[in-house]
Amino acid sequence: MTVHFIGAGPGAPDLITIRGRDLIASSPVCLFAGSLVPKALLGHCPAGARVIDTAPMSLDMIIAEIAAAHAAGQDVARLHSGDLSVWSAMGEQLRRLRALGIPYDVTPGVPSFAAAAAALGAELTLPGVVQSVVLTRTSGRASAMPEGESLAAFAATGATLAIHLSVHVLDRVVLELTPHYGADCPVAVVWRASWPDERVVVATLGTLDAAVAGEMERTALILVGRAIGAQEFDESRLYAHDYDRRFRPVGVDPRFREGA
Ligand SMILES: C[S@@+](CC[C@H](N)C(=O)[O-])C[C@H]1O[C@@H](n2cnc3c(N)ncnc32)[C@H](O)[C@@H]1O
Repeated sequence: MTVHFIGAGPGAPDLITIRGRDLIASSPVCLFAGSLVPKALLGHCPAGARVIDTAPMSLDMIIAEIAAAHAAGQDVARLHSGDLSVWSAMGEQLRRLRALGIPYDVTPGVPSFAAAAAALGAELTLPGVVQSVVLTRTSGRASAMPEGESLAAFAATGATLAIHLSVHVLDRVVLELTPHYGADCPVAVVWRASWPDERVVVATLGTLDAAVAGEMERTALILVGRAIGAQEFDESRLYAHDYDRRFRPVGVDPRFREGA
């Protein structure tokens, strides 16, 4: 028996890995985080599967369900939105499972920042402009930000910021970032990336408020930085015609010669 933690992707039901889909199909128990996991994925559950929305449950209740499946020798598919490495509450579940000696594995998923970038058709790391992406959030009721992880501190680096769980405080985000990035800095808000009701707004920090027109409720990601919509950037050296490398030797560097 194994508990399969599966990244369910950002919303579109076909944005799950083949491995994740197959594990759902082979698990007689499925626990899913109901608020963001697309219901269509539950169609992969085998006939007669025990399918439970964990949105209204406590951690104790979730672990009790898993322990019952363990006692019955039944695999569990545990679905969380996006990828499991960020804001999935997987860490606390794994810690409980380790204490109980219940086996688990983890299958990654498409994170929402990647789906939002795809909706924009944007590469978030452009040569000569920005080479880092910070996945962050603002303080919420359930989790305070550790000291030092302020938006201002990240903004000071000039990195592209992918700000989660924060569209309801969009005004404050813009206020904090404007002194660092400038009012002309591009910003995008992507609501429900990859869902049928996806919405995209691209503006600047100075014009965002008017462009958003008060929509501060639905699930959304805020992307800020000079890479968004940029046209002025360097071409990557990797594909330059004269760039010598192992997979395309063009020069005299002995490291890249045939058979080296
Ligand atoms: C609890 S976190 C889950 C993050 C998830 N594990 C991931 O990999 O992206 C929820 C936040 O992720 C972002 N998010 C999740 N799905 C999204 C989507 N389809 N479009 C835009 N933002 C999304 C929003 O900022 C939302 O408040």
